[in-house]
Amino acid sequence: PSSLTISRPVVLIGLMGAGKTTVGRRLAELLALPFKDADEEIEDAANMSVADIFETYGEGYFREGERKVIERLLSEGPMVLATGGGAFMNAATRELVKLKAISIWLRADLDLLVKRTAQKATRPLLQQGDAREILARLLKERAPVYAEADIVVDSLEGPHLKTVNRIIKAL
Ligand code: S3P
Repeated sequence: PSSLTISRPVVLIGLMGAGKTTVGRRLAELLALPFKDADEEIEDAANMSVADIFETYGEGYFREGERKVIERLLSEGPMVLATGGGAFMNAATRELVKLKAISIWLRADLDLLVKRTAQKATRPLLQQGDAREILARLLKERAPVYAEADIVVDSLEGPHLKTVNRIIKAL
């Protein structure tokens, strides 16, 4: 365990497949902090899957629910919070995160994102066409905004523990 004292929530941002949830869980363990996953919290609050929320109510409704859930979690004190890939793209959510948390962009290249997301077919945004094309477009659109994070760490192929250790060094 690390002897670092973390006084604000640590928020992981980045595209689908960057490893936010897996890295977040391990980071939380090492920092002895609670781990929360924003998508899961939204699903619990709505009693619906992310895919069903998108399908039934649309992305705008999801983003508003996401903002509310993240606002609540950020008021709960230090934790490691993995957010969905679009959370930091929402201006209101981004301002909240910047104000109340230490943000970390888990940056991964396109090949790795494609490979990792292929293992889980539950992401509504990737069901709308060719996953590589969609991820390439999102990466281009989102990278300049993700780059506003406090810390940028590359998520590389191989054991997530390496990535976790690099985050701990950067904190
Ligand atoms: C989204 C990413 C997903 C989920 C939703 C939208 C996005 O989370 O919130 O499908 O806009 O990038 P993960 O990044 O955890 O897959």
